[in-house]
Parts: sequence; structure tokens; C-alpha cells
Amino acid sequence: MAFTIAIDGPAAAGKGTISKAVAQHFGFAHLDTGLLYRAVGRRMLDGIPALDAARALMAQDLDADDLRTPDVAQAASKVAVMPQVRAELIDFQRAFARRAGGAVLDGRDIGTVICPEAEAKLFVTASAEVRAQRRFDELCAAGVKTDYDRVLADVRERDARDMGRADAPLRPAADAVRIDTSGLDIAAAVAQAITAVTLAQGKG
Ligand code: CDP
Ligand code: CDP
Repeated sequence: MAFTIAIDGPAAAGKGTISKAVAQHFGFAHLDTGLLYRAVGRRMLDGIPALDAARALMAQDLDADDLRTPDVAQAASKVAVMPQVRAELIDFQRAFARRAGGAVLDGRDIGTVICPEAEAKLFVTASAEVRAQRRFDELCAAGVKTDYDRVLADVRERDARDMGRADAPLRPAADAVRIDTSGLDIAAAVAQAITAVTLAQGKG
């Protein structure tokens, strides 16, 4: 039976971490939809027109290990403004969402555009400062030289672009449960998410 969990929110709010744990808990498949935009953004940096890249996207492109860099994140948010690029990526996401056995999708517009009928919706947030600190720590751990102010500026720039675009802007669905992870460790954030999904299952 299909059961879709939509998890949206801004960069480094904890969506991916929560999504993986929730998917594992319920035995559902997980799709990080940011990887679709990152894969297209990556191609754009190589000079390939974004729409061509979106049309030619294959599932294995999401496994590339150079998709996590700050440059690719910015490129992703630039191609994500283009309505035709977004349109190209809809069918794949909707098919994944309605697969038998349940699915967790995380991104920016899952609960509002991709799957407004999702059985459970979460909107995961945290302050920009906390999110920038998390990304900064990740970059340091990966051996990337950067500074906190630069990461914070990057996070703010991407937030503004994601919230300000006309097509599928980042915003909570009216029926989403909000989880602010600013003061939560991963275990506490995951526990809140599992509780919210369990409650939604009970309503279904
Ligand atoms: O997917 P998204 O960009 O929203 O965030 P993430 O990749 O799940 O989390 C970003 C970083 O914050 C990771 O290094 C997580 O381990 C960390 N994190 C945290 O410190 N506390 C939380 N409650 C959630 C995530
Ligand atoms: O991991 P992080 O939260 O930093 O970013 P991501 O989820 O990998 O998304 C990268 C960019 O793709 C975002 O800044 C958005 O512009 C775009 N995106 C989107 O527009 N819609 C989605 N469903 C997922 C990502």
C-alpha cells in the first residue's frame, strides 16, 4: 500500500538525517529530491543547458559523489528557479512517492506541489545560524577550507532564492507538522518526526 511522508525545509535543517531515520523505522524507501536539482546544477556548471540536463537525468546520476559541494548547492538552487526544469522532474518524484510499500521524500515542495495528498507532512526548520554552523562543521570534517560567515551567507542566499521563486517556493504546507531542530539533537528530532508520522498513520 502506498503511504507518502513529505519532509520539507531549508538547507541543513536536518531533513535528510530525519528522512533516513524515519524511512528505516517504517521500512519505507527514501528519495532525497535535492539530489535531482544538484545533479542538474552540476551539469550546468559543466556548460550543459539546465533543461537538457533535466531531460537526460538518470537515476544513477544521483549517486555521483561530487554533488555535495557548496558550488553545486548554489547551482542547484539556480536551476531550481526554472519552471521547465522543475516540470521535467515531477513524474519521477510522484512515481517514487506512490510506490507500493511507502516512501519518504525530502526537499522544498514535496508537501505543497509534488505530493499535496501525502499522508504525513513535516516541515523541518532551524535558525540560519544553527544551520550554517552544521554545514560549516560538515565542511571542516571533510577537510574543506572555509569560514563560518561565508557558509552563513551561502545559506541565507539559498534560503532567499528558494523562498522567493515564483514556482514551488519553499513554504510549509498548511497541514504540515513543524519541527524546529535548533535546540534538538538528532535523536530528539527523529523521535518527534516518528511520533508525528505515527499520529498521521492513526488518522488514515
Ligand atoms: O537534509 P538537510 O540539508 O536539511 O540537513 P542534514 O544533512 O540532515 O543535516 C545537516 C547536518 O546537521 C548534519 O551534519 C546532521 O548531522 C546535523 N544535524 C544536527 O546536528 N542536529 C539535528 N537535529 C539534525 C541534523
Ligand atoms: O541538503 P540541502 O538542504 O542543503 O540542499 P538540497 O536539499 O540538496 O537542495 C539543493 C537545492 O535544490 C535547494 O536549495 C533548492 O533550490 C533545490 N530543491 C528544490 O528546489 N526542490 C526540492 N524538492 C529539493 C531541492
